[in-house]
Amino acid sequence: MAAPRHFLQLKDLSRLELDYVFARTRWIKDQFKSYSKYWPLEDRTLVMIFEKASTRTRLSFEAGMHQLGGAAIYLNTRDSQLGRGEPVEDAAQVISRMSDIVMIRTFEQSIIERFAANSRVPVINGLTNEYHPCQILADIYTFIEHRGSIEGKTVAWIGDSNNVCNTWLQAAEIFGFNVHVSTPPGYEVEPERAGLYGTDNYEEFADPMEAAKGADLVTTDVWTSMGFEAENEERRRDFADWQVDADMMKVAAKDAVFMHCLPAHRGEEVAADVIDGPQSVVWDEAENRLHTQKALMEFLLLGHISVE
Ligand code: CP
Ligand code: NVA
Repeated sequence: MAAPRHFLQLKDLSRLELDYVFARTRWIKDQFKSYSKYWPLEDRTLVMIFEKASTRTRLSFEAGMHQLGGAAIYLNTRDSQLGRGEPVEDAAQVISRMSDIVMIRTFEQSIIERFAANSRVPVINGLTNEYHPCQILADIYTFIEHRGSIEGKTVAWIGDSNNVCNTWLQAAEIFGFNVHVSTPPGYEVEPERAGLYGTDNYEEFADPMEAAKGADLVTTDVWTSMGFEAENEERRRDFADWQVDADMMKVAAKDAVFMHCLPAHRGEEVAADVIDGPQSVVWDEAENRLHTQKALMEFLLLGHISVE
């Protein structure tokens, strides 16, 4: 049995493969928009394991699998043996014998790696403490839809150097763009944790306004990620000056877009007039989770198929 391909980090797919997934996304999205039935994954089953909360990830994977002709099963820590201490390795053996593809949202990256090492089927990272590759797949696709190629562009990341930030940094190395990162002191990028090859594709700025200057895309995320709730109060104080507001958007490029993976906290990491304003593409970004992940599942299960 050939080893399955997994998507545990963005860089698990090459630039060529990611470009292929984007080309398939476009075609699959067109089918969806024209109500054309496309069932390449008929009789296939996706198992979704959630150890953290989700709206978009669950919905987009579950709806996406149905739309491709397959079925999706939802498991969470509370209602399965995973929450009662069954080893991840044992769970992977069993779950991957009863399904065709698995998506996991969990805590440490090492958990999903242990699962994948014991899985007979492809495993997709639906968010870990370290990475959120499905999100950045949708984000880059959304940028391309709105502005064309992202190569050579500047992305400003304002806020926490979290899982979404780390994945943007991986994307910058793969697609050849630059990230201007501004975090409060003590929350800086950890290149090794981000899984980077080097430091050539990003620059750190103490002042968020400097990071946003001239950027083609300004993006941020919650100040406190899931699993770090105990730090909430401290983070609210530390991040108070790292809000993306209208003044910050003014120093970005004239045609800059604003993105946020959502859920958002208006008045914290982003001002309401930015996320609800004309430069915001957050709803397209959320919708594209559906289309890009359908293309990703098609690729992981069927490989390259002839594109008509
Ligand atoms: N952006 C994102 O992954 O959203 P959910 O937490 O709702 O899945
Ligand atoms: N960084 C956030 C993203 C939520 C989609 C978190 O991990 O909670």
